[in-house]
Amino acid sequence: MSGRPGPSEVDDRGRANLDSAAEDKYRKLIFFMPTALWQVDSRAAGEAFGRLRAEGITDIAAYLDAHPDLVEFAKDTVLVTEVNREAVALFHGHGPADMIRPVRYLFAATPDMAKRVMVAHFGGWRNYTEEARILTFDGQMRDVVFSVTYPTPPEQQDTTFITISDITDRLHTEAQLRQIQADYAHSARISTLGEMATSIAHEVKQPLAAIVTNGETALHWLSRDELNVAKVRQLTTRIVESAHHASDIIQRIRLMAMRGEPERVTLDLKAVTAEALSFVRHDIESKKIALSIDVPQSLPSVSGDRVQLQQVMVNLLLNSIQAIDQVGAADRHIRIAIRAEDGDLVAFSIRDSGPGIADADLDRLFESFFTTKKTGMGIGLAICRSIVMAHGGSIAGSNNPAGGAHFRFALPIARSEEPS
Ligand SMILES: Nc1ncnc2c1ncn2[C@@H]1O[C@H](COP(=O)(O)OP(=O)(O)O)[C@@H](O)[C@H]1O
Ligand SMILES: [Mg+2]
Repeated sequence: MSGRPGPSEVDDRGRANLDSAAEDKYRKLIFFMPTALWQVDSRAAGEAFGRLRAEGITDIAAYLDAHPDLVEFAKDTVLVTEVNREAVALFHGHGPADMIRPVRYLFAATPDMAKRVMVAHFGGWRNYTEEARILTFDGQMRDVVFSVTYPTPPEQQDTTFITISDITDRLHTEAQLRQIQADYAHSARISTLGEMATSIAHEVKQPLAAIVTNGETALHWLSRDELNVAKVRQLTTRIVESAHHASDIIQRIRLMAMRGEPERVTLDLKAVTAEALSFVRHDIESKKIALSIDVPQSLPSVSGDRVQLQQVMVNLLLNSIQAIDQVGAADRHIRIAIRAEDGDLVAFSIRDSGPGIADADLDRLFESFFTTKKTGMGIGLAICRSIVMAHGGSIAGSNNPAGGAHFRFALPIARSEEPS
């Protein structure tokens, strides 16, 4: 045999060279990828899972709840084997060497997440993603999206990938936008309160007048020789009720005037409608407008800001009242309907017997400062749209075939976990 390598040896060595060149290329590619990436050797967790399966454990979440030490053990034995440049930058590390160690540091700000990552791994998921927080090496909290990709057979069972993307700035911008939207809605509410002043004054005057009447009647009964305790008790009860009623109204006005943090609670649109109507009821009655409300017995809840949604309804109601008043026709009505709709929506619609909307104006209704009224501000509908959109909904205006305008907004129904 000569000393020269046989053809098969050449092939193998050639392939080995090729493989390592390819691997080199991929490592470079991964290192410079603009996404923070961790390669993790999760064999320690895999082995522990194997033992648990052999013991017949199936509900891993319950098991880890009962044995938190296993989660802690995993944080110290599952190892980061490689990181890229972006990962080092995200954690404000000095270099990859800082980061190649047990995964515990990844969970410093969201310790519970380690358990959920393990549950998904045990369950044979392909990916697990969660919005979480991380703590950088110099002690800063960052909001992130944390994603894990698990190996599935026949892939190498020891390699798990983690990517983390920083969403701190995005969340901050979103919060600022929400605040601007809320401020805008608040300024508009203040101006609407002006439009509703007469109606509101009347709304508060009613219970106050009832208190005076019942108080006078009670005094009258008390001045009789024969004391009728039952009668006086009844009158006093009415006084207390009216006082509560007046205080509720004032509270509602106060909320309208306040500049609160926008909230997301579970709401029944039927109740919100009733509250909105209390602001304009007097206007509707004094202008001799017939109001009908068509609401089904049961309605899914929506999630939103109570005061802002009242504001949307009040704006739509005021527009309808003003439109009807403008024509002075004999038929004066507003019809409100609330419906659950396909696609998990609840829709609120309002039709009126006003003159309707000129075709040329239909596209501009929701623009800020678009108005056809002499004293109009033109922000009512713009606010409606901004609020409805911030709630993940949509709003549209059109003409009724039978005459008059028709406005409709739809909101997604609430997911069950929101507080009520
Ligand atoms: N119910 C309605 N009927 C007819 N036109 C309407 C109705 N609602 C709104 N509009 C039209 O849309 C315009 C913008 O409404 P809005 O944004 O509330 O501002 P403003 O009420 O101050 O004019 C109104 O000026 C009017 O032309
Ligand atoms: Mg208006």
